[in-house]
Amino acid sequence: MNLNKSKVSWKSPSNIALIKYWGKYNNQIPMNPSISFTLDKCSTITSVKFEKSNEFSYNFFFENKSKPEFIPKLDVFFSRINEHLPSLSKLKLTINSSNSFPHSSGIASSASAFSSLALCLTEIESMFSDLIDNENFFEKASFISRLGSGSASRSVYGPLSCWGETELYEQSSDEYAIPIKISNHEFPVFCDTILIVDSGPKKVSSTIGHKLMDDHIFKKERISQSHLNFSKLKKSIDSNDLDSFIEVVENEALTLHALMMTSNPNFILFKPNTINIINLVVKFREETGTKVCFTLDAGANVHLLYPKNSFEKVQEFIKKSLAQFCHDGEYINDQIGLGPQKN
Ligand code: DP6
Repeated sequence: MNLNKSKVSWKSPSNIALIKYWGKYNNQIPMNPSISFTLDKCSTITSVKFEKSNEFSYNFFFENKSKPEFIPKLDVFFSRINEHLPSLSKLKLTINSSNSFPHSSGIASSASAFSSLALCLTEIESMFSDLIDNENFFEKASFISRLGSGSASRSVYGPLSCWGETELYEQSSDEYAIPIKISNHEFPVFCDTILIVDSGPKKVSSTIGHKLMDDHIFKKERISQSHLNFSKLKKSIDSNDLDSFIEVVENEALTLHALMMTSNPNFILFKPNTINIINLVVKFREETGTKVCFTLDAGANVHLLYPKNSFEKVQEFIKKSLAQFCHDGEYINDQIGLGPQKN
């Protein structure tokens, strides 16, 4: 290979947490373990061209346009990773990213953005160093992703990915995510329909929200609740108990927003239509017995999770009852995916 100039490219998905990461210590170490479904369609493609240089430098383009507003976060990321990817110190990088989801949807995902970039950078490092091989490639990429955005560490594996130490999985780590196999083959393949309630930028970034957990009045309780919920969730997946799965997932979503509302200062990210949708989802489940539930990330949009064999029924319900609460009637049908792809 001609290493004077070359290019790598990865497509990496977003993910939706079932047990939420909320709160962190220095150096992107999570306060509690989290687990997520990896998505399939909602993803970022990043390509990195690299050429030899006397010192490190980078240019960043989003869909071929320069984006000065992304530079401070990228600068922090590169300052965190340079000791872990030493080959970068002699390279000039040209980074180009694009998302598979519409600009207007307001679901720009730091998880897909940073994991796709981290996979590219890890691949470049592996070309110069014997320390990265097929065995540890994804672990290293997850570690590097974490230093960009905590939730990004989970996006390098599918269908389920766990980040943060938990006694439930011996291999689990605060420094990188691990893939979780669904050993129970009865457990259904899940769809995730993202109902776009608000397409604007978030009022409060996750980074600020995490910070507010440092002195949160419920910090200790939240940490123990997350461990308890994690063990209930694992049991529900192992025993195919969808009612218990739904109970934990919705409890985590509401806890996340309750933590925001009880932070000091407090903030509220859901919107009236978020609540309208939640109420209708619960009513629909009670009336039809369909195993559909809601979850939320740090914003107003609602993720509807449901088994693939209920797809038709849930789509009908969305069109008839929920789309009216979405911004411009917009929603995105996705499903659980298997993780990143090298281009
Ligand atoms: C609510 O991963 O975006 O989506 O590490 O500061 O980049 P940073 O935070 P980020 O936080 C995600 C929070 C969440 C829950 C989750 O994905 O686990």
